Amino acid sequence: MKTIYLIGFMGSGKSTIGSRLSTLLNKAYIDTDIYIENKYKQQITKIFHEKGEDVFRAYESDALNELPNGIVSTGGGIVERSININIMKASGIIVYLHTSFNEITNRLKHDQTRPLWKTNLASKKALFERRTELYENCADIVINTDNKLVNDIVNEIKLLIK
Ligand code: S3P
Repeated sequence: MKTIYLIGFMGSGKSTIGSRLSTLLNKAYIDTDIYIENKYKQQITKIFHEKGEDVFRAYESDALNELPNGIVSTGGGIVERSININIMKASGIIVYLHTSFNEITNRLKHDQTRPLWKTNLASKKALFERRTELYENCADIVINTDNKLVNDIVNEIKLLIK
């Protein structure tokens, strides 16, 4: 089976769904954020703070090149580098988890762990809109996640990747 890449905005459920999908399909599960944190022994917030976003994006590209085949949950900004899109397209199926901005805002209202979510509402909305276009342009499959149960989303993906 080709690698399944889950892409989508912060808070769209990539990790929860990726992990559940890997159990259902009996495939290895990798989260690029966790992979990077383990590799560099540093939290993402610290990497952003001490090395900057560009270095983090380079780490993401390296991770995509190094990961084994399986189910991969990516960071919300993976689409910020076209090289990352090319790597994912060449090696797997890209599944975009679309979640509305209202739902994301609700889910992340107390979040302190995401450096790019610590801005004002207008900047968050602008980022969401710019990224939505990037996600849509590279996705092989688009799944709407609003008002759906994790189990139903996972089963929907399973049917569509066959
Ligand atoms: C980021 C999303 C985060 C993490 C980092 C940057 C982004 O991952 O990679 O904070 O640029 O959207 P999640 O999408 O899992 O929150």
